[in-house]
Amino acid sequence: MQVTFKIWRQPGPEFPGQFQEYPVQGLTEDMSFLEALDYLNETLVRQGEEVVAFEYDCREGICGQCGVYINGRAHGPHDHMTTCQLHLRSFQDGDTITVEPWRARAFPIIKDLVVDRSALDRIMQEGAYISAKTGTAPEANAILIPKEQSDTAMDAAACIGCGACVATCKNASASLFTAAKINHLNRLPQGKPEQHQRVKGMVDQMEAEGFGGCSFTGACEVECPEGISITNIAEMHNRYLRAKLFG
Ligand code: FES
Repeated sequence: MQVTFKIWRQPGPEFPGQFQEYPVQGLTEDMSFLEALDYLNETLVRQGEEVVAFEYDCREGICGQCGVYINGRAHGPHDHMTTCQLHLRSFQDGDTITVEPWRARAFPIIKDLVVDRSALDRIMQEGAYISAKTGTAPEANAILIPKEQSDTAMDAAACIGCGACVATCKNASASLFTAAKINHLNRLPQGKPEQHQRVKGMVDQMEAEGFGGCSFTGACEVECPEGISITNIAEMHNRYLRAKLFG
């Protein structure tokens, strides 16, 4: 299989970037997308050229490190899939595949396909935790939680923080990410004591980082590898209002 990668190359944040085309032969349709980029990089090394910088860690759809824009869609052509889970069988022999970094003001570029997503970490630092004494883990069944409540909390907890919701949103909003992290904890009894502080802190930090507002277009829900529902955002707004009034 042969494809041409059209990849955004940018040596650093202070340098201009541009697309560069790389015809690659000898690929197979069973290769993952990241393996194909590895294959390209091995070729570049042999030729004495600078390799393409891109991020990954688990390559199992868990860590959220591997996001890039592929042919105009976050994580490529399929709904609810990470870049590392994408395979070349999703493309045709001879295709030109355009690969770009996440583009958002709050995600400044570092190099090539790598952007700085530490803004998401700073949102987490404002409340995505439960303050508890350290020591032996408490008995899991000491606090009984209705099944539906624990299920919806775990649905929100599935967010892997990849940033696809930001990259695909026309406002570069981090609302889906922030809502998932807030609702995960605020839906559980353990999260209740700090619920108002959590939602105010995280939403305010999201805005301070320069992410845009939610337009309820719904693109984030489609591209989210975990299929986090956009209804989380409405719930976050409701929680924020209540925290401002009663918190
Ligand atoms: S490398 Fe971990 S989710 Fe893709």
